[in-house]
Amino acid sequence: MTLNPILLVYQFLQHIIARLLSPNPPLPNAKLNRPRIAIIGAGLTGVSSAAHCVGHGFDVKIFEAGDRNRLGGIWARVNNTSGLQIHSLMYRFFPSVEWKSGYPNRREILDNIYNIWHQYSLEEKTEFGVTVEKVWQDGDGHWIVNDEQYGKFDGIIAAIGTCGEPKVPHIPGQEKFKGNIYHSSELDGKDAKGKKIAIIGGGASAVEALEFTSAAQAEKTIILSRSDKWIIPRNAAVDTLLAMNIFGQEILLSWIPEKLLRMFFYRDLADLAPPSNKGIFTETPMVNSDVLDKIREGSAAWLRGDIVEFVENGIRFVQRAQGVPPGGPGKEITVECDVVIMATGFTRPKLSFLPDNCFEEPYAPPNWYLQTFPPGYMSVCANNCTYVNAIGTVGNYHIGVYTRLLLTFLVDPLTRPREGLMKAWIDMTRLFKKRSPTPAFDFFTYTELLWWYFFCVAINPFRWKWALFVFFGIGKGLPMGFVEEEDMLREKLKPYDSK
Ligand SMILES: Cc1cc2nc3c(=O)[nH]c(=O)nc-3n(C[C@H](O)[C@H](O)[C@H](O)COP(=O)(O)OP(=O)(O)OC[C@H]3O[C@@H](n4cnc5c(N)ncnc54)[C@H](O)[C@@H]3O)c2cc1C
Ligand SMILES: NC(=O)c1ccc[n+]([C@@H]2O[C@H](COP(=O)([O-])OP(=O)(O)OC[C@H]3O[C@@H](n4cnc5c(N)ncnc54)[C@H](OP(=O)(O)O)[C@@H]3O)[C@@H](O)[C@H]2O)c1
Repeated sequence: MTLNPILLVYQFLQHIIARLLSPNPPLPNAKLNRPRIAIIGAGLTGVSSAAHCVGHGFDVKIFEAGDRNRLGGIWARVNNTSGLQIHSLMYRFFPSVEWKSGYPNRREILDNIYNIWHQYSLEEKTEFGVTVEKVWQDGDGHWIVNDEQYGKFDGIIAAIGTCGEPKVPHIPGQEKFKGNIYHSSELDGKDAKGKKIAIIGGGASAVEALEFTSAAQAEKTIILSRSDKWIIPRNAAVDTLLAMNIFGQEILLSWIPEKLLRMFFYRDLADLAPPSNKGIFTETPMVNSDVLDKIREGSAAWLRGDIVEFVENGIRFVQRAQGVPPGGPGKEITVECDVVIMATGFTRPKLSFLPDNCFEEPYAPPNWYLQTFPPGYMSVCANNCTYVNAIGTVGNYHIGVYTRLLLTFLVDPLTRPREGLMKAWIDMTRLFKKRSPTPAFDFFTYTELLWWYFFCVAINPFRWKWALFVFFGIGKGLPMGFVEEEDMLREKLKPYDSK
């Protein structure tokens, strides 16, 4: 075994972060007497949010639609060969996560989720097999989940993700095709050796399916992509630099990274890059360094165009040139193949269990306060499930920030955002991003997200005392100390209230 000094430093730093920033797990049988929170979904966001809550003395109940095997959410359902495309440095979804490598696989990700679940005694607080269909507030503002059997809650964290069931469109002529058709999330145990494989879809799952077919020694893999997405290198420095565009939209200087990517990454394959009118700060890019090399060496091909229909031995396809939009003119070809992989994505789980007025335009998701709190409902945090496109990461530090903002709002009335101010912030962000080619909240960068948090804390002086707690979870006794003092003060003021 060789010792990699960079990896050792990485592991050491993670260990320090874990020691410094992980909230203490509650003692066995400890009574968590802070407000009670319902968490919907037991993927990494739900488990991480729940651990933050109990670590700070708040009681939780996690509702998971799936059975015990679904703990871990999407990672419990994808292929064994699935793994992170971004560097794990950007996938630290809880302070105690300790990655053994830069690009962990599904197993390691699930193990980290399970560890947190056990470490924070969340087993006894999780209800499996319960699909949340409705949440509503009683006269006192307490939340009820489905029906009253689970008691009342002070806050809701919706952590239902964005990847539900596999999306498998029906394509004309599918029944004529002689080979097998699989969804990209069900490739375990499938035989691709020596076969010609067509992959439908040009997103991250298509790239991952290509990794699978290459490892399985397919003869050739052809990706059939309807629309153009940027591919960026699997390099933590490049990915971080791109995420540092604080404006979260196309800016005057966006041509620089786009040109550099075309020149030094796409090189001879620059015609596979999106056309010049589709900037990099408009849609989630794919993160992969091998796909272009596989195309160069001839084991893979990437065709832009539209599927006409399946035929017995493959797919009839209209191949388009760069810049010609979907449905536009092109050359008709037949892509012969033995197997088709549908990398056509996943259906989006619905937030429709929330009150109807959370979906009223122009403040329907993702157009919510900090993209996560529906205006008028500061006690609802839709953590990680409203985003559309971003340059950043889903499983990172922000899960804790959002959770702690909710906890702060719940325990300190003076920090709560009022409906009008929530809407004003949304309108202000829309105004800032008026020139963006995408709607303001349909694309953001990680640095923009950090700016939102900074602004949210800085704008209200009553939130300043919570800054270290919100950003780092520091001051484990802090919320409790403040709440107790506030409670005492409120008790003292009660006689005056009734006058
Ligand atoms: C193959 C693959 C690789 C990925 N790689 C990356 C990556 O490298 N980087 C990255 O940032 N992201 C990646 N993602 C995106 C991934 O979705 C997130 O990183 C993250 O795992 C999402 O976690 P989550 O807990 O928010 O959602 P999920 O893991 O989807 O969990 C949501 C849970 O909520 C439950 N649920 C839904 N609705 C209800 C309901 N009404 N009632 C009760 N329970 C409900 C679901 O059953 C599910 O268990 C990848 C996705 C896939 C499919
Ligand atoms: N390791 C990783 O990082 C990783 C791996 C897999 C998935 N993910 C994440 O998981 C989420 C889902 O990714 P995904 O790649 O599965 O889905 P996706 O991003 O939604 O991409 C689906 C692709 O399929 C195409 N498509 C859909 N229906 C089609 C049809 N009827 N005919 C032709 N093409 C069709 C889409 O084309 P259009 O764009 O034209 O609709 C798109 O190119 C994303 O958030 C992604 O980042 C991450």
